[in-house]
Amino acid sequence: MSLQNRHLWSPADAAALYGINQWGAGNFAVSDKGEVNIVIPFGEMDVSVALPDIVQAARDREHSLPLLLRIENLLDARIQLLNESFARAIRETGYSGHYEGVYPVKVNQQSAVISEISRYGKPYGHGLEAGSKAELLLCLASLNEGGLLICNGYKDQEFIDLGLWANKLGHRCFFVIESPTELPLILERSSSLGIQPLIGLRIKISAQVGGLWTETSGDRSSFGLTTAQLVATVDSLREAGMLSSLQLLHCHLGSQIPVLEDIRAGVREASRFFADLAAEGVPLQYLDLGGGLAVDYIGNQSNHSHSCDYQTFDYCHCVAETIKTTLDRKSIPHPTIITESGRATVAHTSILLFNILDVMHYQPLDLPDRRPDRCHALIQKQYDLYRAADNTDLSSGYVSAVRTRDRIRELFRAGDITVRERAVAENLFLGIAQALRQRLTPEQEVPVTLAGLNSSLADIYYGNFSVFQSLPDSWAIGQMFPIMPIHRLDQYPERQASISDLTCDCDGKLDRFILSHGESRTLPLHTFLPQEDYILGVFLMGAYQETLGDLHNLFGDTDVISLRINEDGSFDITREQSGDTVAEILTMLEYNPTSFYDSFRGRIEGAVKKGVITVADRQQLLSRFKNCLNNQTYFKNISATDSLKGGQ
Ligand SMILES: Cc1ncc(COP(=O)(O)O)c(C=O)c1O
Repeated sequence: MSLQNRHLWSPADAAALYGINQWGAGNFAVSDKGEVNIVIPFGEMDVSVALPDIVQAARDREHSLPLLLRIENLLDARIQLLNESFARAIRETGYSGHYEGVYPVKVNQQSAVISEISRYGKPYGHGLEAGSKAELLLCLASLNEGGLLICNGYKDQEFIDLGLWANKLGHRCFFVIESPTELPLILERSSSLGIQPLIGLRIKISAQVGGLWTETSGDRSSFGLTTAQLVATVDSLREAGMLSSLQLLHCHLGSQIPVLEDIRAGVREASRFFADLAAEGVPLQYLDLGGGLAVDYIGNQSNHSHSCDYQTFDYCHCVAETIKTTLDRKSIPHPTIITESGRATVAHTSILLFNILDVMHYQPLDLPDRRPDRCHALIQKQYDLYRAADNTDLSSGYVSAVRTRDRIRELFRAGDITVRERAVAENLFLGIAQALRQRLTPEQEVPVTLAGLNSSLADIYYGNFSVFQSLPDSWAIGQMFPIMPIHRLDQYPERQASISDLTCDCDGKLDRFILSHGESRTLPLHTFLPQEDYILGVFLMGAYQETLGDLHNLFGDTDVISLRINEDGSFDITREQSGDTVAEILTMLEYNPTSFYDSFRGRIEGAVKKGVITVADRQQLLSRFKNCLNNQTYFKNISATDSLKGGQ
């Protein structure tokens, strides 16, 4: 059936349109009721919970939209998948070492995430990776006994001392040397404290990977030792009698690597370094391959930068097989494989839910029913194009209308036509665009010349969220996340829209969407009914977004709830956290909300004295000011009785 057949529309058509069965990887589905379900397997049985039910449960607990949901089961499933895929790959390739995963906490440092990774990852010996002192402290407080801790980034004395003590406490804390200048301080602190360090060397891999992070890899990558520096550092350690500390070789090929063959080339090069150093007596036991395991945000298993042409198991098999083949040639024992998969561990666990507040339609408000006289010839020309739009050639009709519209705008800028004449002309343009679009059948391939037609008519749906706070990568690096309504999916989505956030910034928008047929500049949505909730979900957004988000326009953290879905179909809200209040945000910017309030109070006291407002007005204003300070930063519906009554 055609996806666009509005009368026979079913939830299955919605699933096909938004591609949820591809990018959802079995974790999300559209139910017969037309709602998005989270699907959790328990043995042979799948348990589904509807997202609108979770929103209701959150509201019952006085949380409001926008809301960040963390589904613990989905985090557990990724840790399980990674560890079990490596175990299987090791078995199937005959690799004689084993696998130890570490989670790079930079990807999502939230306490709920780290504590769940430590808890669920314990039987797998899943460790942590830190890149700064704050992250080191967080890891030391969360690491399981004897856990593996990889320390990347620059390390000062405080950092090194804590890491050394961690070894004394029974952890395996590796200092990964990113630059030769780091070594003397590590050796000096080790000798002062009498604790032997565990050292790793990070190497620059010349094999370049594709995708958005090509720069992280290759000769010119910011971090890691050149081959000459690597050899010199090995020699320094040997001369210092500390070679026994050098047990790990590290590289990071990049993040979100879409092509498996690029990974194979990088792993082969890293294994060659490993083999030669081991052959000359360096007691290496671990090969750490960093991050890079991609998430298929699009769900089409391709080499697109937002997808990947492999599954988790293929990645694990490729890694184990490549190390084995390279080392076997020199009869070097197989090391413990470490990977620092961040994105692939946490992306699936989080969903951002936000409500639509308003819609701007791009459609003609009023169209003349006869040719306007006494106006500029170009406006008359636009009228003629409008009248002909039902029969004209689609491409040339659209191109002429755009050209005429742009020339009319120039006339306006030059002061040659009035604002009212421009309004007539803009309505006519939209009338032409609408008539031409109606003539396009869904199956018809849209000619390049008509590429702008859909976007010029698309509605703007205003969402109660901030791109900069909740989805910063979509603004900064053009990251696409799957987005779709979480309900009404049994109804035909008759509108085409882009989405704007609450910030008054023209970059605060989402206008690249993942649909099953590919990328689209507009998202099919349902007609917005102002009295009813219309809620959209952004999926696969658990990696990098939370701490990269900023306070642009002073929108703070949203409410967050973590939940666990149970085998009987119930769910427990395991953690809840209210979003930032206005006062909290102002405090972060070095304001003092109390003095802020006092100075406002002083100002309105003056207004009372001058008779501008009454004492009763003063009370209302002060209480509204105080409430606003203590409320969250996002859009809130205030009931009629609660609203300020003007002029009393
Ligand atoms: C050293 C290091 N390890 C691991 C990662 C995580 O990478 P990913 O999220 O692609 O797994 C990064 C991120 O760029 C990194 O810099």
